[in-house]
Amino acid sequence: MYIDKIKMQNFRNYVEQEITLGKNINIFYGNNAQGKTNILEAIYMSAIGKSYRAGKDREVINVNKDFAKIEISYAKKDRDGKVKIEISNKKMIYLNDIKVKKISEILGNINIVLFNPDDINIFKDGPSKRRRLLDIMISQLRPAYLYNLNMYEKTIEQRNNYLKQIKFENKNDEMLEIWDRKLSDYAEVINFYRKEFVQKLKEKIEDIHKKITNNKEKVRIEYISDFTDKEEFFKLLEKNRKLDIIKGYTVKGIHRDDLKLYINENDIEIYGSQGQHRSAILSIKLSELEIIKDEIEEKPVLLLDDFMSELDKERRESFLEDVKDTQIIITCTDKLELTNENKKIFYVENRKCRRKKYRLKK
Ligand SMILES: Nc1ncnc2c1ncn2[C@@H]1O[C@H](COP(=O)(O)OP(=O)(O)OP(=O)(O)O)[C@@H](O)[C@H]1O
Ligand SMILES: [Mg+2]
Repeated sequence: MYIDKIKMQNFRNYVEQEITLGKNINIFYGNNAQGKTNILEAIYMSAIGKSYRAGKDREVINVNKDFAKIEISYAKKDRDGKVKIEISNKKMIYLNDIKVKKISEILGNINIVLFNPDDINIFKDGPSKRRRLLDIMISQLRPAYLYNLNMYEKTIEQRNNYLKQIKFENKNDEMLEIWDRKLSDYAEVINFYRKEFVQKLKEKIEDIHKKITNNKEKVRIEYISDFTDKEEFFKLLEKNRKLDIIKGYTVKGIHRDDLKLYINENDIEIYGSQGQHRSAILSIKLSELEIIKDEIEEKPVLLLDDFMSELDKERRESFLEDVKDTQIIITCTDKLELTNENKKIFYVENRKCRRKKYRLKK
C-alpha cells in the first residue's frame, strides 16, 4: 500500500501544509526542530488513532490555535481511502468521510511500521515499553485485541482503587470475585493474541537477524506471562488477594507480561552491546513488516525516524535493497546520498515542507 497525500492544519508547528508523497522512497531532511518527525506523527495518528509521543491528544494542536486537522489519503491494492482526524476539545475520526465511533474501527486501514529512535532502548528500559511495542503491533492486525486490552486495563484500575478502599475503609472484599472473573475473560483473549503474534515473530526473526548480522548472531525471542489458562489465572488472582490488599495494587497478571530477547542465548537486557540493541529492534521491525505483509498481502508503509543516520552508506543501501517495493518515509538531518532513483526529496525548514528536485549524477 502507499500513502498518497498528507494534509495538516494547525498540527504541531504546521499551520497549513499539503504533501504529495512518492510511491517509493520519500526523504524529509532539515535541521533539528523544524517539523520532520511531526509529519511521521501525523501519519502514525491516522493509522493507530493516537500519537506515540503525545501524552494527551490536544498536545498536537498548534499552540496558537484551538483545533488541529489531519487528512491522509492512501491507496491499497483493492481500494483507496482517506482517514481524517479533527482534534479540538474532543477527537473525531472519519474514515472515507464517515465518522467512526471507536478508534479500533480505523485500525488496519493504513498499515505502518515505525522505527522510532527511542525503540533502540526497548530492551534496556522496563517491561512496560516492551508490552506497549507488542500492543501496538498486535492492535494494527487484530482490532478485537485493543478492545479487550482497554477493558482489562480499566478493570485493573477499578480493582486497584477498590483494593485501597478495602485496606483503608474496611470495605468488603466480595467485589473482587466479580472483577477477577472479568479479568480472567479479558486476559484469555489478550494472551491468545500475544502468543499468536510472538509465534509469528519467532518464525520470522531468526532468518532476518541472521541476514542483518551476516550469520554471526542467533536470536531467540520469548514471551513471558503469568497466564496459563483462564481458571488458573482466576486462581492466581484469588491467591494473591491478601497481598494485593496490602500493596494496594494487583501484583500479578498479564499487565506484567514481558518479552525477552536472547542473542546467542545471552539475555540482551544484561549482555547486549549498543550495536546489538540496534540490530535487535531492526530485526523485530522487519519481522513485523513481514507479518503484516503476510496478513494483508501487500506491504505496509515504513516510517523511519532519524534511523538512517545510524547506518553507514553501505548498510543503508543494503537495508533499502531489503525493503524495496515498499513505500518508505525517512526523516534525517542530512540530505541522504542514495543511489536509488525512485525517491522524492523534501526540505523541511521553519514549519514549511518543500519539494526539492534532484539531479542524477552523471
Ligand atoms: N503543539 C505545538 N505547537 C507548535 N509547535 C509545536 C507543537 N509541538 C511541537 N512543536 C514544535 O515542533 C518542532 C519539533 O518538530 P519535530 O519533532 O518534527 O522536529 P524534527 O524536525 O523532527 O527535529 P529533530 O531533527 O530534532 O528530530 C519544535 O520546534 C517544537 O517546538
Ligand atoms: Mg525528529
